[in-house]
Amino acid sequence: MRCWIPVCERRGRLNKMSLLSVDNLTIGYQTQKGLLRAVDRISFDLERGDSLGFVGESGCGKTTIGMALMGLLPENAEILEGQMRFQARDLVSLTESQWQKIRGAKIAMIFQAAMNALNPVLPVGDQIKEAIVTHQPDISDTDLTDRMKGLFDLVDIPVERMNNYPHEYSGGMKQRAVIAMALACDPALIIADEPTTALDVIVQDQILKEIKTVQQTTRTGLIFISHDIAVVASVCEKICVMYAGQIVETGTRKEVFTSPRHPYTRMLLSSYLSLDNLNDIKVPDMKESPDQMTDTKNAGLPSPVRPVPMAVPADSQTGSTYPPPTRHSAVIRK
Ligand SMILES: Nc1ncnc2c1ncn2[C@@H]1O[C@H](COP(=O)(O)OP(=O)(O)OP(=O)(O)O)[C@@H](O)[C@H]1O
Ligand SMILES: [Mg+2]
Repeated sequence: MRCWIPVCERRGRLNKMSLLSVDNLTIGYQTQKGLLRAVDRISFDLERGDSLGFVGESGCGKTTIGMALMGLLPENAEILEGQMRFQARDLVSLTESQWQKIRGAKIAMIFQAAMNALNPVLPVGDQIKEAIVTHQPDISDTDLTDRMKGLFDLVDIPVERMNNYPHEYSGGMKQRAVIAMALACDPALIIADEPTTALDVIVQDQILKEIKTVQQTTRTGLIFISHDIAVVASVCEKICVMYAGQIVETGTRKEVFTSPRHPYTRMLLSSYLSLDNLNDIKVPDMKESPDQMTDTKNAGLPSPVRPVPMAVPADSQTGSTYPPPTRHSAVIRK
């Protein structure tokens, strides 16, 4: 298996200063049919500011790794073997009260479908405040307000929306709020488990860019989980491909895309859009038409604040009064 750091060097780094090092980790679930090895002897390490993507089919063990790193494995799960060290501290042997000091504060997770888990009867801002106050009970009101404003700015939600309830947010805003919550205590490591799966592709693209920017600005370590290799590649420099609980291939984004070694990786890539076609697509540069901008995200495009004109001139060839479809929909599978 390809690894981006030679083993001897890696071992040295694991012991010295890795933000996170996972070695030979094996996790099983007790089920009615016996022990299920959901994660099977996986090893990887991560430095501060690094981003590592886990990609693999449903059920291959991605979330189980995230839950183990948060100390949130269910009762029927057991770490059968291996080590997890975070900032040189052994995570496997932590007690629940020790976990409470790390979870959320130093290691935070954006859970799968987390945006649906926002409390519907509490304003979004209050929920983020709660995350901060839980770990910093002595924080002053002024610092708390500044921190909240900073977080909302970071994830690009207008500060005045702080007092809105989750149902008053769009899906993309809810997901941004969940990211703000994960960043609330300035963690050293963020685990993002399928953070954009429920979003449409345009919003997904915005959120992915934001996650990347925030991660690079804050130099947080990032573990990004997805079943979509294109999504993982758009955020992470390094990729682990998982299959049946094992890491079957590791490498930089370029290595995995240009010379995939494992058959499963090749299958993943061959089921993905042809990259050749993408060069032909002209995505409009929104900044070219600043006069039409009403908000920076949807500049130049119709939006609720700049609706489609009532009378759209008919297309001379088709007679249609609707704008033509975007070129995105013209991408053809290989
Ligand atoms: N609490 C549990 N009890 C028993 N088996 C479980 C439990 N949680 C997960 N599993 C099993 O462990 C395996 C790995 O599950 P996991 O949720 O980690 O997969 P995943 O890669 O995150 O999948 P997905 O992409 O669908 O989210 C699956 O076979 C799953 O059915
Ligand atoms: Mg999962």
